[in-house]
Amino acid sequence: MPVITDIADLRRLHERRSPRMFFDYCESGSWTEQTFRENTSDFEKLRFRQRVAVDLSNRSVAGRMLGEEVAMPVALSPVGMTGMQRADGEIKAARAAKAFGVPYTLSTMSICSIEDVAEHAGPGFWFQLYVMKDEAFVDAIIERAKRAGCSALVLTLDLQALGQRHKDLKNALTAPPRLTPRNLLNIATKPVWAAEMLRTRRHSFGNVLGHASGVTNLANLMSWTAEQFDLTLDWEKVRRIREKWGGKLILKGILDAEDAKLAAEVGCDAIIVSNHGGRQLDGALSSIRVLPSILRALEGRARRPEVWLDSGIRSGQDILKALAMGADATMIGRAYIYGLGAMGEAGVTKALEVMRKELDLSMAFCGHRRLEEVTRDILLVPEDFEGRWDRPVPQMAGARKAPVRVG
Ligand SMILES: Cc1cc2nc3c(=O)[nH]c(=O)nc-3n(C[C@H](O)[C@H](O)[C@H](O)COP(=O)(O)O)c2cc1C
Repeated sequence: MPVITDIADLRRLHERRSPRMFFDYCESGSWTEQTFRENTSDFEKLRFRQRVAVDLSNRSVAGRMLGEEVAMPVALSPVGMTGMQRADGEIKAARAAKAFGVPYTLSTMSICSIEDVAEHAGPGFWFQLYVMKDEAFVDAIIERAKRAGCSALVLTLDLQALGQRHKDLKNALTAPPRLTPRNLLNIATKPVWAAEMLRTRRHSFGNVLGHASGVTNLANLMSWTAEQFDLTLDWEKVRRIREKWGGKLILKGILDAEDAKLAAEVGCDAIIVSNHGGRQLDGALSSIRVLPSILRALEGRARRPEVWLDSGIRSGQDILKALAMGADATMIGRAYIYGLGAMGEAGVTKALEVMRKELDLSMAFCGHRRLEEVTRDILLVPEDFEGRWDRPVPQMAGARKAPVRVG
């Protein structure tokens, strides 16, 4: 067993042990990948203030998300095709999250179905919805999520159309992979992955295949998926979905102060400040950079949704920075997928353990014993961190018309 000291170790093992096309799928941002890179490099611009001679006994990194206690304020983000990184990957990730005591979010585009994952998931089992044109499919999947006991719906708003990720096009990504000579050669070097895949029956999109009308095999599944993302999704539809669901609602993909206000007006329990891990609009700002403007936009509301952040978190130090900047909680995508691709369920657990240790020790070095004591005061934030941007505000309800400065 290799000695794992950080998430980068898991990333290296994931790269070595998973077929190229699935590692690349995980490791891609859209177009030039500027936003993907800045999601992580912007965290590095924030520095800590070291404090000393403070009683550091009896520490805890527990927190709350949607009013429920969590082992640390970190949930696993929805990741499509997790079950291609490792056989039955969604089940493995859900089991690790349950044992650790953090929520797990299942993607619409998962390999294991909602029903299969529900048998293994803990109380924090959330379902992420992509709104599709096929309304019957959307209605049915919302019902399936309710029946499976999902305790929250995560509605993703930043993927009405798919961002272009060059590597996926070059690799001709599919689930399951096409058995071309190039893929076969590559898979031959991944014996553990291949042996596990041969032992499972879950090889394609389990929430869709056999559930969407007319989708019965891989060929029509691919064409269905390609044309199904609903380009007409708007706040009115969000409102309708909220009513259909009737339970806790989390809006994912908010990256602008105006959208944060609209999300709060529609009514939701939490928003996720996210740019989809840099996979959608390349050139957008990193999540950590826009977080302060979003928090300011929601200030003073009688009922404010919880504000969480994902995109770019690779360590417990990043989690601490996000919390210190004002996020109520965080979510992670690639960090746990690296663990899964490296070592299956044990790797997801390892990723969470590594991050918890980093979070706990960094909090202690900053002079605190509990996350609720942590404020922006533990950080050194560069004066120009948010940037000074002139931008015309889009014409939409409630938006100011004159150019404004952010930050
Ligand atoms: C390989 C991959 C697949 C993803 N699939 C989905 C998805 O199906 N639904 C969704 O809402 N977000 C999806 N995301 C975005 C994640 O939920 C999350 O926002 C992102 O990974 C956070 O950035 P990080 O990976 O830097 O932590 C995906 C991200 C990755 C890396």
